[in-house]
Amino acid sequence: MKILIVGNGGRENALAYAVYNSASFRDNSGKIFITTGNPGTEEFSESINISSTDISSLADFAGKEKIDLTIAGAEIPLSMGIADEFESRGLKIFGPSKRAAEIESSKIFSKKMMREAGVPTAEYNSFSDDNPDEATDYLRKCSFPVVIKADGLAAGKGVVICEDIQTAEATVKELCSGNSFGEAGKKFIIEKFLSGEEISVFAVTDGTDHVLLPFSQDHKKISDGEKGNNTGGMGAVAPVKKFMTKDMTDKINGKIIRPVLKYMKDHGREFKGCLYCGLMIVNDEPFVIEFNCRFGDPETQAVLPLLSSDFLELLYASAEGKIQDYLISFRNEFTCCVVLASGGYPGEFEKGKIINGLDKTEKDCLVFHSGTVYGSNGSDIVTNGGRVLSVVGISDVSLEDAVSAAYRNAGRIEFEYKYNRTDIGFRQIKSIK
Ligand code: AMP
Ligand code: GLY
Repeated sequence: MKILIVGNGGRENALAYAVYNSASFRDNSGKIFITTGNPGTEEFSESINISSTDISSLADFAGKEKIDLTIAGAEIPLSMGIADEFESRGLKIFGPSKRAAEIESSKIFSKKMMREAGVPTAEYNSFSDDNPDEATDYLRKCSFPVVIKADGLAAGKGVVICEDIQTAEATVKELCSGNSFGEAGKKFIIEKFLSGEEISVFAVTDGTDHVLLPFSQDHKKISDGEKGNNTGGMGAVAPVKKFMTKDMTDKINGKIIRPVLKYMKDHGREFKGCLYCGLMIVNDEPFVIEFNCRFGDPETQAVLPLLSSDFLELLYASAEGKIQDYLISFRNEFTCCVVLASGGYPGEFEKGKIINGLDKTEKDCLVFHSGTVYGSNGSDIVTNGGRVLSVVGISDVSLEDAVSAAYRNAGRIEFEYKYNRTDIGFRQIKSIK
């Protein structure tokens, strides 16, 4: 059995780990290929040197190698149509079509869909650079803060929370100038600010049925206390038990996931793959902040180690329309993922710093690589990106224990200018300030 994973971040490393540990993979003498691997992925997989956006070369490779299932990790290849290309060549792939991936690649489509499907989300209006005055007139009627979002993909940076009209007007001007977000920002939405607690919910679906993975909580800001610039994600904890009640799960299924899947199917955009629901829980009611068309990073690193049923079979069930028959189960454990980053990230940072201590981590932890590469001597592992490693602490006792395990192990890994947040899990554990 041959599996191809497209992408090489911490998320894809965790996907490779979970496939590798699936009984169905081992029983079938599986082999994983990954584009383009790093020192962390070589334990599970063989690296291939094709860019994750070179879709036709990836499909050529999958055809030639007789890949049984391809797993698309990130949003860019999906929004470029990797699933459409593979399916048109009769190649099996986990992930949505280009039209379905618009749930993430166009915030205007996503909000319109939610409005039409009656899914709870913040009130909004959409605008374009053709008529910036329309946006500024609208702002005069808003109460603040408001949230302004570029329509297109902007690597998590296309969202600005504006506390006052001056900031909002400047943001509209910046978007319309095309300087900061290019085409992605020429259309945008202005929406109401929601105040509550955010969680990430992954629904793995075949377009009709779905299963939920344990809820997780990301920490998007660079500094402790959720301060500073937005990042790709500095850490995550799972499960977020306080929201995993029957009542909340019923609301999420009934008010959000089922209506969205039905709408997408009825409108010729059947969504297959992982529907990532970024939710704000406001007074015990879930509101959608955003949908993504893929697993989240770093939430995946925290969530997948909790799965006890066969992960590869879950991916197959999504690709083959058999989710109804899939029996999902989880370990009664807790995880905390702490991201070790290069100092300066999400701004400028240096690369090429030697990483020490990777061999000193203990059994209660997993380390997934993202920004790492072999140094020029071929044996040192050195930093090569903003987010370098995801250190995941695991405990069968408590979330507190998982957090301690993550930080204890993260402390054994050293590199120059290493930076991490020190408060991952603070919303779930009162003792973390
Ligand atoms: P997004 O890229 O849509 O996930 O937005 C990035 C972050 O901005 C989210 O994770 C939230 O923390 C915040 N955000 C987005 N929309 C809203 C909203 N309507 N109200 C409050 N915060 C929001
Ligand atoms: N952790 C947020 C994301 O994957 O978009």
